[in-house]
Amino acid sequence: MNNIHLNHIPVLTKEVIKSLNIKKNGTYIDCTFGFGGHSKKILEHLNDRGTLYAIDKDPYSINIAKKICDNRFHIIPGNFSKILKNFQRNNTKKIDGILLDLGMSSMQLNNPNRGFSFLLNGPLDMRMNPKVGIKASEWLMKSDVKSITKVLYEFGEERFAKKIAIKIVQQNKIKPITTTIELSNLIKKIVPKNKKHPATRTFQAIRIHINQELNELREVLKYALKILTYKGRLSVISFHSLEDRIVKKFILKNSKPPFIPTGIGINEIQLSNLKQITLKIIDKVIPTKIEINTNPRARSAILRISEKKNINEQ
Ligand SMILES: C[S@@+](CC[C@H](N)C(=O)[O-])C[C@H]1O[C@@H](n2cnc3c(N)ncnc32)[C@H](O)[C@@H]1O
Repeated sequence: MNNIHLNHIPVLTKEVIKSLNIKKNGTYIDCTFGFGGHSKKILEHLNDRGTLYAIDKDPYSINIAKKICDNRFHIIPGNFSKILKNFQRNNTKKIDGILLDLGMSSMQLNNPNRGFSFLLNGPLDMRMNPKVGIKASEWLMKSDVKSITKVLYEFGEERFAKKIAIKIVQQNKIKPITTTIELSNLIKKIVPKNKKHPATRTFQAIRIHINQELNELREVLKYALKILTYKGRLSVISFHSLEDRIVKKFILKNSKPPFIPTGIGINEIQLSNLKQITLKIIDKVIPTKIEINTNPRARSAILRISEKKNINEQ
């Protein structure tokens, strides 16, 4: 097999670096190391007192990261939500910037053995960490029509969710679906051809479910806000509307000051709300046509940038 899956072109690299507003001796976290494209750029902007922590749950990415010999760089394997929670618990030094580049890496998508692609035949796996949890094929095997429909509808916004779910359950009773192409062929018989491949939405939905991606995102944002220092930056790249909606809502919710009615005294709860950490909206950036032409994966990327703000700031 050729090495196509070994190449991952990072998206919005220049914009990400600008968004993090990097202090040369600051401390940063790249929550999604992947192939290390963004991490390497961040390191270029740090001096010898700077620190970069990088996280990934995929053992293949961890192996790549371990090859980086740099005292300023620390790779931490695991789920980013759990790791940021530990950062908060251990009360380590405050973080100057956090990056999340969500979704799959090209290494994951283009490697048939990982089972993420409906175009390449391989085991129907889809786990970002193949050592944890169950494969997509095992989940489909043990699930009923109702739960498969729910996942396809909620995480894929798939109009044909129920029809697909019924067919999957029927097929699994005859001969279990174990490969990507078996699933993709089954969907092609149900979903009419459109601009997108008929299996796009189903594969996205199952992948999100198997990796608990939206829950992970909600959790990591919560802890990111807690560990960022004053004026620390939070930069998040999302690739579909479900992710972007969560990021946008989170930033909006935390950028509004709590409502305190005038003319009455402030009670304890209101006072603690007032002291609540908040965010300032900095920008929303999308890739240029030139970037999309050279890196089609950038097509649907949205970078949302926010900054931890002091409550006394207007
Ligand atoms: C789009 S890639 C990141 C690419 C990277 N920015 C680069 O420049 O190469 C996303 C990476 O995040 C990892 N990932 C996704 N969800 C994760 C989670 N909840 N915890 C840890 N890593 C996660 C995936 O395994 C994948 O390697």
